[in-house]
Amino acid sequence: MKFLNRWLTTKKEETSNHFDQEGKIPQHIAVIMDGNGRWAQKRMLPRIAGHKEGMETVRRIAIAADDLGVKAMTLYAFSTENWKRPTEEVSFLMKLPGDFFQLFMPEIQERNMQIKLIGFIDQLPDSTRRVVQNAVDATVNNTGMVLTFALNYGSRAEILEATKSIAQQVKDGQITVEELSEDSINQELQTAFLGQLQDPDLMIRTSGEVRLSNFLCWQLAYSEFYFTDILWPDFSKEDLQEAIGVYQNRHRRYGGL
Ligand code: FPP
Repeated sequence: MKFLNRWLTTKKEETSNHFDQEGKIPQHIAVIMDGNGRWAQKRMLPRIAGHKEGMETVRRIAIAADDLGVKAMTLYAFSTENWKRPTEEVSFLMKLPGDFFQLFMPEIQERNMQIKLIGFIDQLPDSTRRVVQNAVDATVNNTGMVLTFALNYGSRAEILEATKSIAQQVKDGQITVEELSEDSINQELQTAFLGQLQDPDLMIRTSGEVRLSNFLCWQLAYSEFYFTDILWPDFSKEDLQEAIGVYQNRHRRYGGL
């Protein structure tokens, strides 16, 4: 990964990626929280111990992002592919949101954070669905950072559903094919509630894997990507600042000059 990092970050970034408190802060950060299992295995612990520690990291990083003035953070907590894992691990992951909100809801409220969900929530076990929906309901009037959990989320399925909905609107005569725009798709995606903040400015993936894994494929089209070897349970506030430092030193051109 050392070699890969060298390839992924330019020579300039290696020397000038220092975080600038006064610099531009990404408004929306998306995170692929990877490496919980390896973190646990390195310590001869069961994989679920890594997920538990990863839950603490969610709190730490959400607070750090809030303190830095980030407006939205979207966390990939469970993909549509994660059902393939051993039943015991899936059951544990399904219980985590309950533990998380029980432990941290007072802090979430104190910070005025809004909890939101993306993913195919209807297919979650009843108890999980109830607990996450309660968190959304309990924070619906908050106006602070939007903390979105992607649960049973898959980007291709999301885009497929959006396409079906648009096709139906065309069929029903509500819109013509000529009238369709990128915004027609934005409005049908599960992230539509984010409005102006819908597209992340920065995507962070931990643990050394360098792929998107079906996460926000449409929304990340112009985002800056930051990959790090650090395993999610070890990811710290300083590591977040480091990622933002790299972002601050990149020049987003959106295809222009
Ligand atoms: C990927 O690591 C991580 C997950 C599939 C689960 C992520 C969940 C959390 C960080 C906790 C979420 C907390 C809440 C509140 C929902 P991995 O298991 O694939 O790690 P590995 O690649 O090392 O095996």
